[in-house]
Amino acid sequence: MQAGADVKAESVGGDRTVTIEQALAGARVALGATSPSARLDAEILLSHVLGCGRARLHAYPGTGLDPDSTQRFEILVERRRQGEPIAYLTERREFWSLDLRVTPDTLIPRPETEHLVEAVLAAVPRGEAARIADIGTGSGAVALALARERPRALVLGSDLSPAAAGVARGNAARLGIGNVSFIVSNAGAALAAASWSVIVSNPPYVAAGDPHLATGDVRFEPREALVAGPCGLDMLETLAREAPTRLVPGGWLMLEHGGDQGGAVRALLRRAGFASIETRRDLAGHERMTRGRRPSAGGDSGRTRPRAALQSGRPPDAIGPPAERDGTDR
Ligand SMILES: C[S@@+](CC[C@H](N)C(=O)[O-])C[C@H]1O[C@@H](n2cnc3c(N)ncnc32)[C@H](O)[C@@H]1O
Repeated sequence: MQAGADVKAESVGGDRTVTIEQALAGARVALGATSPSARLDAEILLSHVLGCGRARLHAYPGTGLDPDSTQRFEILVERRRQGEPIAYLTERREFWSLDLRVTPDTLIPRPETEHLVEAVLAAVPRGEAARIADIGTGSGAVALALARERPRALVLGSDLSPAAAGVARGNAARLGIGNVSFIVSNAGAALAAASWSVIVSNPPYVAAGDPHLATGDVRFEPREALVAGPCGLDMLETLAREAPTRLVPGGWLMLEHGGDQGGAVRALLRRAGFASIETRRDLAGHERMTRGRRPSAGGDSGRTRPRAALQSGRPPDAIGPPAERDGTDR
């Protein structure tokens, strides 16, 4: 149903005819016990069904819903009552102001992952024809944000899941972002040697036995997007091991990780020979993202500026105050 005219059309649903106001009130009651945001959820779901903005629901509360819309709304409300994330019900999530399609084949992008985007942008000047690889791209959130912000860069997103790569490709096409492509690949296997300015990843990093996997939205997300071995470090370890040979000298590896994994990830990067290793905290104060740089050919103590491919005129700690810098946690 399209916004506007269809919403205003009187329905002929007989006994099932309800107004927007009545439908929302019923949904709020139905969701009250399971959702902390019952009112908002109801409005988002009805807006989705009617193809209109939430403001229109408030502007025309007495409008009748046709039976088809009523039924579709009731089904979505029931799925929400069972705990399904709103983003999967509407197949939409905003990330970095991009309207992304998400499906149960993709992780629902998290706001804190925007810190990862900020960190890459701080290392890649706007006019730079950098080559950026986003490993474990999911819906393409990180790759698409970077490609949009750095139009001269070439961005490659990869994912083990063909379905996720397909969603990411669809997002790129719908958003008209052309300097990005997506492939199916296991970690960095498909990346050519010594050709990437930045390898960035928000990989799976949850431990297999983590009790949070049985709670909230994550119950509905793909397990392979969340879980990485008994300690959650398997894919982070793989990326730290594979990235050095695929980065240009001076290139960056930038990894999101769990709030309690900062020390382990710094150790992985040190072991793999990275320099300039540092960790950034999120707004909640948790260590959330760690980066390291492949030493340049002439040797890199970790205290020098990035080489030409990444020079931005900004100091190496331009991503913000580091939570930990290499050398402070040994
Ligand atoms: C935490 S999700 C991140 C998705 C996206 N980057 C985001 O931030 O919304 C991790 C992604 O890594 C993918 N993945 C898991 N194991 C992988 C592997 N071995 N190689 C490539 N991708 C993998 C999953 O399919 C999932 O899409």
